[in-house]
Amino acid sequence: MIDINKYLDSLKPSATLAINQEVQLLKSKNIDIVHFGFGQSPFPIYKGIIKALQEHADHNEYLPTLGLTALRQQISLFLKQHQGIEMDWSHIFIGPGSKELLYHTILILEGEFLIPKGSWVSYLPQIKTKGGSCTILDTEYANDFKLNAETLERHCKNSPGKQKVLILNSPNNPTGAVYNNEELQSIAKVCMKHGIIVLSDEIYSQINFGERYSASISQYYPQGTIVYGGLSKVFSAGGYRLGYVAIPEAMKGLRATFKALFSETFSAVAAPIQYAAIEAYKMNDGLLDYISRCKNILGTIANFVFQELKKLNIECTQPQGAFYVMIGFSHYKEQINALGIHSSEALAHHLIQSYHLALLPGTDFYFSSSDLFLRLAYVDFDGKSLLEKFLHKNEINSNHIIDNCPNITKGIGQLRAFITTISA
Ligand SMILES: Cc1ncc(COP(=O)(O)O)c(C=O)c1O
Repeated sequence: MIDINKYLDSLKPSATLAINQEVQLLKSKNIDIVHFGFGQSPFPIYKGIIKALQEHADHNEYLPTLGLTALRQQISLFLKQHQGIEMDWSHIFIGPGSKELLYHTILILEGEFLIPKGSWVSYLPQIKTKGGSCTILDTEYANDFKLNAETLERHCKNSPGKQKVLILNSPNNPTGAVYNNEELQSIAKVCMKHGIIVLSDEIYSQINFGERYSASISQYYPQGTIVYGGLSKVFSAGGYRLGYVAIPEAMKGLRATFKALFSETFSAVAAPIQYAAIEAYKMNDGLLDYISRCKNILGTIANFVFQELKKLNIECTQPQGAFYVMIGFSHYKEQINALGIHSSEALAHHLIQSYHLALLPGTDFYFSSSDLFLRLAYVDFDGKSLLEKFLHKNEINSNHIIDNCPNITKGIGQLRAFITTISA
Protein backbone atom coordinates (compact mmCIF):
# COMPACT_ATOMS: atom_id res chain seq x y z
CA MET A 1 0.00 0.00 0.00
CA ILE A 2 1.26 3.46 -0.89
CA ASP A 3 0.15 6.32 1.33
CA ILE A 4 -1.37 9.10 -0.74
CA ASN A 5 -2.16 12.65 0.32
CA LYS A 6 -5.69 12.24 1.69
CA TYR A 7 -7.06 15.16 -0.32
CA LEU A 8 -5.78 13.73 -3.59
CA ASP A 9 -6.77 10.19 -2.73
CA SER A 10 -10.42 11.24 -2.52
CA LEU A 11 -10.33 12.95 -5.95
CA LYS A 12 -12.38 11.01 -8.46
CA PRO A 13 -12.17 11.14 -12.23
CA SER A 14 -14.92 13.50 -13.35
CA ALA A 15 -18.02 12.34 -15.19
CA THR A 16 -16.53 14.17 -18.19
CA LEU A 17 -13.75 11.64 -18.29
CA ALA A 18 -16.16 8.74 -17.87
CA ILE A 19 -18.24 9.96 -20.84
CA ASN A 20 -15.13 10.47 -22.95
CA GLN A 21 -14.03 6.92 -22.17
CA GLU A 22 -17.46 5.61 -23.18
CA VAL A 23 -17.18 7.60 -26.44
CA GLN A 24 -13.72 6.13 -27.16
CA LEU A 25 -14.93 2.61 -26.46
CA LEU A 26 -17.91 2.94 -28.80
CA LYS A 27 -15.77 4.60 -31.47
CA SER A 28 -13.29 1.72 -31.28
CA LYS A 29 -16.25 -0.52 -32.18
CA ASN A 30 -16.83 1.66 -35.25
CA ILE A 31 -19.95 3.21 -33.78
CA ASP A 32 -20.53 6.80 -34.89
CA ILE A 33 -21.02 9.11 -31.95
CA VAL A 34 -22.30 12.66 -31.95
CA HIS A 35 -19.97 14.24 -29.44
CA PHE A 36 -21.82 17.02 -27.65
CA GLY A 37 -19.62 16.42 -24.62
CA PHE A 38 -16.35 17.99 -25.63
CA GLY A 39 -15.69 21.73 -25.23
CA GLN A 40 -12.76 22.35 -27.55
CA SER A 41 -12.72 25.09 -30.19
CA PRO A 42 -13.57 23.53 -33.56
CA PHE A 43 -11.67 26.17 -35.54
CA PRO A 44 -8.12 26.02 -36.89
CA ILE A 45 -5.63 28.37 -35.35
CA TYR A 46 -5.14 31.72 -37.11
CA LYS A 47 -2.25 31.53 -39.58
CA GLY A 48 -0.42 34.61 -38.27
CA ILE A 49 -0.09 32.97 -34.84
CA ILE A 50 1.34 29.77 -36.34
CA LYS A 51 3.82 31.83 -38.33
CA ALA A 52 4.98 33.66 -35.20
CA LEU A 53 5.42 30.31 -33.45
CA GLN A 54 7.50 28.95 -36.32
CA GLU A 55 9.66 32.04 -36.40
CA HIS A 56 10.48 31.69 -32.71
CA ALA A 57 11.07 27.95 -32.59
CA ASP A 58 14.77 28.54 -31.88
CA HIS A 59 14.07 30.22 -28.55
CA ASN A 60 15.35 27.61 -26.15
CA GLU A 61 16.04 29.92 -23.21
CA TYR A 62 14.09 30.03 -19.97
CA LEU A 63 12.03 33.20 -19.98
CA PRO A 64 11.35 35.36 -16.91
CA THR A 65 9.10 33.56 -14.40
CA LEU A 66 6.21 35.99 -14.79
CA GLY A 67 6.42 36.03 -18.58
CA LEU A 68 7.94 38.11 -21.37
CA THR A 69 7.61 41.82 -20.72
CA ALA A 70 6.54 42.41 -24.35
CA LEU A 71 3.74 39.85 -23.96
CA ARG A 72 2.55 41.28 -20.66
CA GLN A 73 2.50 44.75 -22.23
CA GLN A 74 0.58 43.45 -25.22
CA ILE A 75 -2.01 41.78 -22.99
CA SER A 76 -2.38 45.00 -21.01
CA LEU A 77 -3.20 46.80 -24.28
CA PHE A 78 -5.50 43.99 -25.39
CA LEU A 79 -7.43 44.10 -22.10
CA LYS A 80 -7.94 47.82 -22.50
CA GLN A 81 -8.98 47.76 -26.16
CA HIS A 82 -10.79 44.45 -26.40
CA GLN A 83 -12.11 43.74 -22.91
CA GLY A 84 -12.65 47.14 -21.31
CA ILE A 85 -10.19 46.44 -18.47
CA GLU A 86 -7.46 48.83 -17.33
CA MET A 87 -4.55 46.83 -15.96
CA ASP A 88 -0.91 47.87 -15.89
CA TRP A 89 1.32 45.30 -17.60
CA SER A 90 3.30 44.71 -14.43
CA HIS A 91 0.13 43.30 -12.82
CA ILE A 92 -0.28 40.65 -15.52
CA PHE A 93 1.42 37.25 -15.13
CA ILE A 94 1.73 34.51 -17.72
CA GLY A 95 1.14 30.82 -16.95
CA PRO A 96 0.58 27.48 -18.72
CA GLY A 97 -3.18 27.93 -19.19
CA SER A 98 -5.75 29.74 -17.08
CA LYS A 99 -6.60 26.43 -15.40
CA GLU A 100 -3.15 26.27 -13.81
CA LEU A 101 -3.35 29.94 -12.83
CA LEU A 102 -6.72 29.43 -11.18
CA TYR A 103 -5.24 26.48 -9.33
CA HIS A 104 -2.30 28.54 -8.10
CA THR A 105 -4.70 31.22 -6.88
CA ILE A 106 -6.83 28.65 -5.08
CA LEU A 107 -3.69 27.29 -3.39
CA ILE A 108 -2.64 30.77 -2.32
CA LEU A 109 -5.96 32.05 -0.96
CA GLU A 110 -7.41 30.97 2.36
CA GLY A 111 -11.10 31.06 3.20
CA GLU A 112 -14.40 29.82 1.87
CA PHE A 113 -14.74 29.45 -1.90
CA LEU A 114 -18.14 30.21 -3.43
CA ILE A 115 -19.25 28.57 -6.68
CA PRO A 116 -22.60 29.27 -8.34
CA LYS A 117 -24.51 26.14 -9.37
CA GLY A 118 -23.82 25.94 -13.13
CA SER A 119 -20.05 26.51 -13.14
CA TRP A 120 -17.02 24.91 -14.74
CA VAL A 121 -16.17 21.35 -13.74
CA SER A 122 -12.61 21.93 -12.43
CA TYR A 123 -13.12 24.60 -9.77
CA LEU A 124 -14.28 22.30 -6.99
CA PRO A 125 -11.73 19.49 -7.56
CA GLN A 126 -8.99 22.12 -7.46
CA ILE A 127 -10.29 23.39 -4.12
CA LYS A 128 -10.54 19.82 -2.82
CA THR A 129 -6.89 19.09 -3.58
CA LYS A 130 -5.93 21.45 -0.80
CA GLY A 131 -8.73 20.43 1.54
CA GLY A 132 -10.34 23.83 1.06
CA SER A 133 -13.90 24.68 2.01
CA CYS A 134 -16.48 25.45 -0.63
CA THR A 135 -20.15 26.35 -0.83
CA ILE A 136 -22.29 25.94 -3.94
CA LEU A 137 -24.60 28.93 -4.32
CA ASP A 138 -28.05 28.22 -5.69
CA THR A 139 -29.11 29.50 -9.12
CA GLU A 140 -32.25 29.00 -11.19
CA TYR A 141 -33.14 27.99 -14.71
CA ALA A 142 -35.38 31.08 -15.02
CA ASN A 143 -32.23 33.21 -14.68
CA ASP A 144 -30.10 30.95 -16.93
CA PHE A 145 -28.36 29.68 -13.78
CA LYS A 146 -26.69 33.03 -13.18
CA LEU A 147 -25.90 33.98 -9.61
CA ASN A 148 -27.99 36.83 -8.28
CA ALA A 149 -26.89 39.40 -5.73
CA GLU A 150 -29.63 38.48 -3.24
CA THR A 151 -28.46 34.87 -3.01
CA LEU A 152 -24.90 36.04 -2.41
CA GLU A 153 -26.02 38.57 0.21
CA ARG A 154 -28.11 35.94 2.01
CA HIS A 155 -25.20 33.55 2.11
CA CYS A 156 -22.84 36.20 3.50
CA LYS A 157 -25.37 37.13 6.21
CA ASN A 158 -25.77 33.50 7.24
CA SER A 159 -22.08 32.76 7.21
CA PRO A 160 -20.19 35.81 8.45
CA GLY A 161 -16.54 35.90 9.42
CA LYS A 162 -14.02 34.16 7.28
CA GLN A 163 -12.63 35.48 3.98
CA LYS A 164 -14.75 34.55 0.98
CA VAL A 165 -13.62 33.95 -2.59
CA LEU A 166 -16.27 33.95 -5.35
CA ILE A 167 -15.49 32.24 -8.66
CA LEU A 168 -17.49 33.88 -11.42
CA ASN A 169 -17.38 32.81 -15.07
CA SER A 170 -18.91 34.83 -17.92
CA PRO A 171 -19.52 33.86 -20.73
CA ASN A 172 -20.29 30.72 -18.88
CA ASN A 173 -19.33 27.12 -19.26
CA PRO A 174 -21.74 25.17 -19.01
CA THR A 175 -24.70 27.50 -19.65
CA GLY A 176 -23.57 29.88 -22.41
CA ALA A 177 -25.04 32.72 -20.33
CA VAL A 178 -23.40 36.14 -20.11
CA TYR A 179 -23.82 38.42 -17.10
CA ASN A 180 -24.98 41.91 -18.05
CA ASN A 181 -23.73 45.17 -16.55
CA GLU A 182 -26.56 45.53 -14.05
CA GLU A 183 -26.15 41.97 -12.79
CA LEU A 184 -22.41 42.44 -12.34
CA GLN A 185 -22.90 45.80 -10.69
CA SER A 186 -25.27 44.39 -8.09
CA ILE A 187 -23.02 41.38 -7.39
CA ALA A 188 -20.05 43.76 -7.12
CA LYS A 189 -21.93 45.80 -4.49
CA VAL A 190 -22.38 42.73 -2.29
CA CYS A 191 -18.74 41.73 -2.80
CA MET A 192 -17.56 45.19 -1.82
CA LYS A 193 -19.77 45.22 1.28
CA HIS A 194 -18.42 41.86 2.50
CA GLY A 195 -14.85 42.15 1.19
CA ILE A 196 -15.29 39.11 -1.08
CA ILE A 197 -12.40 38.38 -3.45
CA VAL A 198 -13.64 37.61 -6.97
CA LEU A 199 -11.84 35.27 -9.36
CA SER A 200 -13.30 36.36 -12.70
CA ASP A 201 -12.82 33.64 -15.30
CA GLU A 202 -13.12 35.53 -18.60
CA ILE A 203 -11.58 32.92 -20.88
CA TYR A 204 -14.56 33.22 -23.33
CA SER A 205 -14.89 37.03 -23.10
CA GLN A 206 -14.81 37.78 -26.86
CA ILE A 207 -16.93 34.75 -27.76
CA ASN A 208 -20.04 36.81 -27.13
CA PHE A 209 -22.75 36.62 -29.81
CA GLY A 210 -24.16 40.10 -29.19
CA GLU A 211 -21.21 42.25 -28.18
CA ARG A 212 -17.56 42.63 -29.10
CA TYR A 213 -16.62 41.41 -25.62
CA SER A 214 -18.35 40.57 -22.37
CA ALA A 215 -18.81 42.86 -19.38
CA SER A 216 -16.39 42.21 -16.52
CA ILE A 217 -17.12 42.52 -12.81
CA SER A 218 -13.69 44.15 -12.53
CA GLN A 219 -15.24 47.29 -14.05
CA TYR A 220 -17.37 47.65 -10.92
CA TYR A 221 -15.06 46.12 -8.36
CA PRO A 222 -11.49 46.52 -9.65
CA GLN A 223 -9.90 46.43 -6.21
CA GLY A 224 -11.29 42.97 -5.39
CA THR A 225 -11.25 41.19 -8.77
CA ILE A 226 -8.56 38.96 -10.24
CA VAL A 227 -9.10 38.36 -13.98
CA TYR A 228 -8.14 35.22 -15.97
CA GLY A 229 -7.89 34.65 -19.71
CA GLY A 230 -5.84 32.81 -22.28
CA LEU A 231 -5.36 31.51 -25.80
CA SER A 232 -7.54 28.39 -25.58
CA LYS A 233 -10.98 29.55 -26.63
CA VAL A 234 -10.98 32.91 -28.43
CA PHE A 235 -7.76 32.03 -30.29
CA SER A 236 -8.59 28.30 -30.68
CA ALA A 237 -5.21 27.33 -29.21
CA GLY A 238 -5.97 25.18 -26.16
CA GLY A 239 -2.95 22.99 -26.86
CA TYR A 240 -0.59 25.95 -26.72
CA ARG A 241 -1.24 26.10 -22.97
CA LEU A 242 -0.93 29.81 -22.34
CA GLY A 243 -3.04 31.92 -20.03
CA TYR A 244 -2.71 35.04 -17.93
CA VAL A 245 -3.80 36.28 -14.55
CA ALA A 246 -4.31 40.00 -13.88
CA ILE A 247 -3.97 40.98 -10.23
CA PRO A 248 -5.18 44.46 -9.23
CA GLU A 249 -3.07 47.08 -7.49
CA ALA A 250 -5.08 46.67 -4.27
CA MET A 251 -3.98 43.02 -4.06
CA LYS A 252 -0.34 43.64 -4.87
CA GLY A 253 0.64 41.79 -1.70
CA LEU A 254 -0.27 38.57 -3.52
CA ARG A 255 2.17 39.10 -6.35
CA ALA A 256 5.32 37.97 -4.54
CA THR A 257 3.56 34.74 -3.55
CA PHE A 258 2.47 34.09 -7.14
CA LYS A 259 5.99 34.73 -8.37
CA ALA A 260 7.52 32.39 -5.80
CA LEU A 261 4.98 29.66 -6.54
CA PHE A 262 5.52 29.96 -10.30
CA SER A 263 9.28 29.73 -9.83
CA GLU A 264 8.94 26.59 -7.71
CA THR A 265 6.50 24.88 -10.06
CA PHE A 266 6.39 25.52 -13.83
CA SER A 267 9.29 28.07 -13.93
CA ALA A 268 8.02 29.85 -17.05
CA VAL A 269 5.78 29.14 -20.04
CA ALA A 270 7.47 27.73 -23.17
CA ALA A 271 9.40 30.51 -24.92
CA PRO A 272 8.15 30.03 -28.52
CA ILE A 273 4.55 29.98 -27.30
CA GLN A 274 5.01 33.29 -25.49
CA TYR A 275 6.32 34.89 -28.67
CA ALA A 276 3.40 33.49 -30.65
CA ALA A 277 1.02 34.87 -28.01
CA ILE A 278 2.37 38.40 -28.59
CA GLU A 279 1.12 38.09 -32.16
CA ALA A 280 -2.26 36.82 -30.96
CA TYR A 281 -2.80 39.65 -28.49
CA LYS A 282 -1.92 42.28 -31.12
CA MET A 283 -5.38 41.50 -32.53
CA ASN A 284 -4.58 42.71 -36.03
CA ASP A 285 -7.43 43.19 -38.52
CA GLY A 286 -7.10 39.70 -39.98
CA LEU A 287 -7.40 38.14 -36.54
CA LEU A 288 -10.33 40.37 -35.60
CA ASP A 289 -12.09 39.25 -38.75
CA TYR A 290 -11.30 35.58 -37.97
CA ILE A 291 -12.75 35.93 -34.45
CA SER A 292 -15.85 37.65 -35.72
CA ARG A 293 -16.44 34.88 -38.29
CA CYS A 294 -15.92 32.16 -35.65
CA LYS A 295 -18.41 33.94 -33.39
CA ASN A 296 -20.89 34.31 -36.17
CA ILE A 297 -20.78 30.59 -36.94
CA LEU A 298 -21.01 29.62 -33.27
CA GLY A 299 -23.88 32.05 -32.64
CA THR A 300 -25.85 30.75 -35.62
CA ILE A 301 -25.41 27.13 -34.53
CA ALA A 302 -26.27 28.02 -30.93
CA ASN A 303 -29.47 29.70 -32.04
CA PHE A 304 -30.38 26.75 -34.27
CA VAL A 305 -29.88 24.32 -31.37
CA PHE A 306 -31.87 26.57 -29.02
CA GLN A 307 -34.83 26.85 -31.44
CA GLU A 308 -34.90 23.13 -32.17
CA LEU A 309 -34.82 22.19 -28.49
CA LYS A 310 -37.66 24.60 -27.73
CA LYS A 311 -39.77 22.79 -30.34
CA LEU A 312 -39.08 19.55 -28.45
CA ASN A 313 -40.10 21.16 -25.15
CA ILE A 314 -36.58 20.55 -23.81
CA GLU A 315 -35.43 23.31 -21.48
CA CYS A 316 -32.42 25.21 -22.83
CA THR A 317 -30.46 28.15 -21.46
CA GLN A 318 -30.33 31.22 -23.71
CA PRO A 319 -27.01 30.97 -25.60
CA GLN A 320 -25.18 34.29 -25.49
CA GLY A 321 -21.56 33.15 -25.74
CA ALA A 322 -18.98 30.35 -25.30
CA PHE A 323 -19.70 26.88 -26.81
CA TYR A 324 -22.43 25.48 -24.59
CA VAL A 325 -26.01 25.33 -23.41
CA MET A 326 -27.48 23.55 -20.43
CA ILE A 327 -30.50 21.48 -21.44
CA GLY A 328 -33.18 20.07 -19.14
CA PHE A 329 -35.76 17.31 -19.27
CA SER A 330 -38.05 18.26 -16.38
CA HIS A 331 -41.09 18.22 -18.71
CA TYR A 332 -40.35 14.53 -19.33
CA LYS A 333 -39.37 13.56 -15.81
CA GLU A 334 -42.15 10.97 -15.40
CA GLN A 335 -41.41 9.25 -18.70
CA ILE A 336 -37.67 9.24 -17.98
CA ASN A 337 -38.19 7.92 -14.45
CA ALA A 338 -40.36 5.17 -15.97
CA LEU A 339 -37.24 3.98 -17.82
CA GLY A 340 -35.57 3.52 -14.44
CA ILE A 341 -33.52 6.69 -14.97
CA HIS A 342 -33.43 8.98 -11.94
CA SER A 343 -30.20 10.92 -12.33
CA SER A 344 -28.45 13.08 -14.92
CA GLU A 345 -25.54 10.58 -14.97
CA ALA A 346 -27.94 7.71 -15.82
CA LEU A 347 -29.63 9.87 -18.46
CA ALA A 348 -26.27 10.72 -20.08
CA HIS A 349 -25.36 7.03 -20.03
CA HIS A 350 -28.69 6.10 -21.66
CA LEU A 351 -28.32 8.72 -24.41
CA ILE A 352 -24.82 7.57 -25.29
CA GLN A 353 -25.65 3.86 -25.26
CA SER A 354 -29.03 3.96 -26.98
CA TYR A 355 -28.80 7.10 -29.11
CA HIS A 356 -25.02 7.42 -29.61
CA LEU A 357 -25.20 10.94 -28.32
CA ALA A 358 -22.61 12.16 -25.80
CA LEU A 359 -23.63 14.91 -23.35
CA LEU A 360 -22.27 15.66 -19.88
CA PRO A 361 -24.37 15.24 -16.75
CA GLY A 362 -25.28 18.30 -14.67
CA THR A 363 -23.56 16.78 -11.63
CA ASP A 364 -20.21 17.82 -13.13
CA PHE A 365 -21.44 21.40 -12.98
CA TYR A 366 -22.75 21.32 -9.38
CA PHE A 367 -26.37 20.36 -10.16
CA SER A 368 -27.91 17.77 -7.90
CA SER A 369 -28.02 14.30 -9.36
CA SER A 370 -31.82 14.20 -9.62
CA ASP A 371 -31.89 17.45 -11.66
CA LEU A 372 -32.25 16.10 -15.18
CA PHE A 373 -29.94 18.69 -16.74
CA LEU A 374 -27.12 17.95 -19.20
CA ARG A 375 -24.49 20.13 -20.85
CA LEU A 376 -24.59 20.28 -24.62
CA ALA A 377 -21.41 21.53 -26.37
CA TYR A 378 -22.41 22.38 -29.96
CA VAL A 379 -18.89 22.28 -31.41
CA ASP A 380 -19.06 18.90 -33.18
CA PHE A 381 -18.63 20.40 -36.67
CA ASP A 382 -15.85 21.09 -39.15
CA GLY A 383 -14.78 24.63 -38.21
CA LYS A 384 -12.14 24.85 -40.93
CA SER A 385 -14.54 24.18 -43.77
CA LEU A 386 -17.21 26.50 -42.35
CA LEU A 387 -14.70 29.32 -41.96
CA GLU A 388 -13.67 28.86 -45.60
CA LYS A 389 -17.28 28.77 -46.80
CA PHE A 390 -18.62 31.72 -44.89
CA LEU A 391 -16.18 34.52 -45.42
CA HIS A 392 -18.53 37.35 -44.66
CA LYS A 393 -20.59 38.34 -41.69
CA ASN A 394 -24.32 37.50 -41.76
CA GLU A 395 -23.85 35.09 -44.63
CA ILE A 396 -24.63 32.01 -42.58
CA ASN A 397 -28.13 30.97 -41.53
CA SER A 398 -29.87 27.92 -40.09
CA ASN A 399 -30.27 26.28 -43.53
CA HIS A 400 -26.50 26.36 -43.88
CA ILE A 401 -26.22 24.62 -40.52
CA ILE A 402 -28.53 21.86 -41.73
CA ASP A 403 -26.42 21.46 -44.88
CA ASN A 404 -22.95 21.80 -43.38
CA CYS A 405 -23.05 20.52 -39.81
CA PRO A 406 -24.20 16.90 -40.10
CA ASN A 407 -23.46 16.00 -36.50
CA ILE A 408 -25.34 18.99 -35.13
CA THR A 409 -28.50 18.06 -37.06
CA LYS A 410 -27.97 14.37 -36.32
CA GLY A 411 -27.62 15.10 -32.59
CA ILE A 412 -30.84 17.13 -32.59
CA GLY A 413 -32.48 14.30 -34.53
CA GLN A 414 -31.38 11.81 -31.87
CA LEU A 415 -32.85 13.98 -29.12
CA ARG A 416 -36.07 14.14 -31.14
CA ALA A 417 -36.07 10.34 -31.46
CA PHE A 418 -35.54 10.02 -27.69
CA ILE A 419 -38.45 12.37 -26.90
CA THR A 420 -40.70 10.61 -29.44
CA THR A 421 -39.88 7.20 -27.95
CA ILE A 422 -40.49 8.18 -24.33
CA SER A 423 -43.67 10.08 -25.22
CA ALA A 424 -45.23 7.18 -27.16
C1 LIG B 1 -14.67 28.11 -17.90
C2 LIG B 1 -13.29 27.66 -18.21
N1 LIG B 1 -12.26 28.19 -17.51
C3 LIG B 1 -11.00 27.82 -17.74
C4 LIG B 1 -10.69 26.86 -18.71
C5 LIG B 1 -9.25 26.45 -18.86
O1 LIG B 1 -8.68 26.98 -19.97
P1 LIG B 1 -7.10 26.91 -20.23
O2 LIG B 1 -6.96 26.14 -21.48
O3 LIG B 1 -6.67 28.36 -20.34
O4 LIG B 1 -6.45 26.26 -19.07
C6 LIG B 1 -11.73 26.28 -19.44
C7 LIG B 1 -11.43 25.23 -20.43
O5 LIG B 1 -12.26 24.42 -20.79
C8 LIG B 1 -13.06 26.70 -19.20
O6 LIG B 1 -14.10 26.19 -19.90
